[in-house]
Amino acid sequence: MDISIVAGPSSVDLATKVANSLDASLLSVDFRIFKDGETKINMSKPVGKNCVLIQSTYPPTDRHLMQALMMLKKCSDGSLADILAVVPYMAYSRQDREFLDGEVVSMAVVARLFECVGTRRLITVDIHSPTSLSYFSIDVRNLSAISLLAKYAITNLKASRPVVVSPDKGGANRAREFARLLQTDMLTLSKRRDMHSTEVFVDKQKLNLDIAGRDVIILDDMISTGESIVKASKFLLEANPNNIYAMCTHAVMIENAIEKIEAAGVKEIISTNSIPRSIGKVDLSPVISREIASIIEPAAIR
Ligand code: R5P
Repeated sequence: MDISIVAGPSSVDLATKVANSLDASLLSVDFRIFKDGETKINMSKPVGKNCVLIQSTYPPTDRHLMQALMMLKKCSDGSLADILAVVPYMAYSRQDREFLDGEVVSMAVVARLFECVGTRRLITVDIHSPTSLSYFSIDVRNLSAISLLAKYAITNLKASRPVVVSPDKGGANRAREFARLLQTDMLTLSKRRDMHSTEVFVDKQKLNLDIAGRDVIILDDMISTGESIVKASKFLLEANPNNIYAMCTHAVMIENAIEKIEAAGVKEIISTNSIPRSIGKVDLSPVISREIASIIEPAAIR
């Protein structure tokens, strides 16, 4: 395909997989971080009609975001190429509204920045909320990793009579779809976050399902500090389940989040490779490649 894939520093492995599957040329990027934290980027200009930058904006968030914007600007400068940004993990998507008076709606700023540097289309994966998408005026595709995660669970976890749990109401539809693919039951917990301290609380609640002896899969869009999964796991353990697993699309995993989650009784954590980590066992490259191909050469997709 006539595509140049630019491998952003945060997503080199994923970009390589996508380039291989599309038989596209892969452009590597030289970069240097100065002592003051600034990044200098040196990259050759993409050739051809289609330029795709792949860069997830996980921590260090602002650095990865700024790098994405710099590379997109370089791609679009004086170029006729169609510029497509693939941002599997979209930072700031949780600040999609003014929760407390005076807060800046960060997602609106990020959307504007992507557009300012010449991005014509954008692909992301399991963005935190549909509201986040509303700030873009370009064509944005929000891909779902649910079926890939479900396929992984079916093939590898071999869970006994699994129950899928959403840690909060916001994730209920996602968990419902996942449970449907596993042909099993689901539960939604009631979770609160103190908007000032950001502490997470899982309310004491009566479960409308007996999970004793059953394997539990807690599913979330992202795990950041791990607090939501820790509190959910501790609460669920009181109901004597068999194994507890945690699955998510984006394993942000701040500091010792993985250890905290394991210490809270979770047997295994599985994520996609939207963020490169050892637990990122579910490869997003097939869905991303397919979406790129459907945009660039729709006729090539059945
Ligand atoms: C919140 O609504 C999200 O879906 C996640 O549950 C949350 O962002 C996870 O964050 P943490 O791991 O810090 O609890």
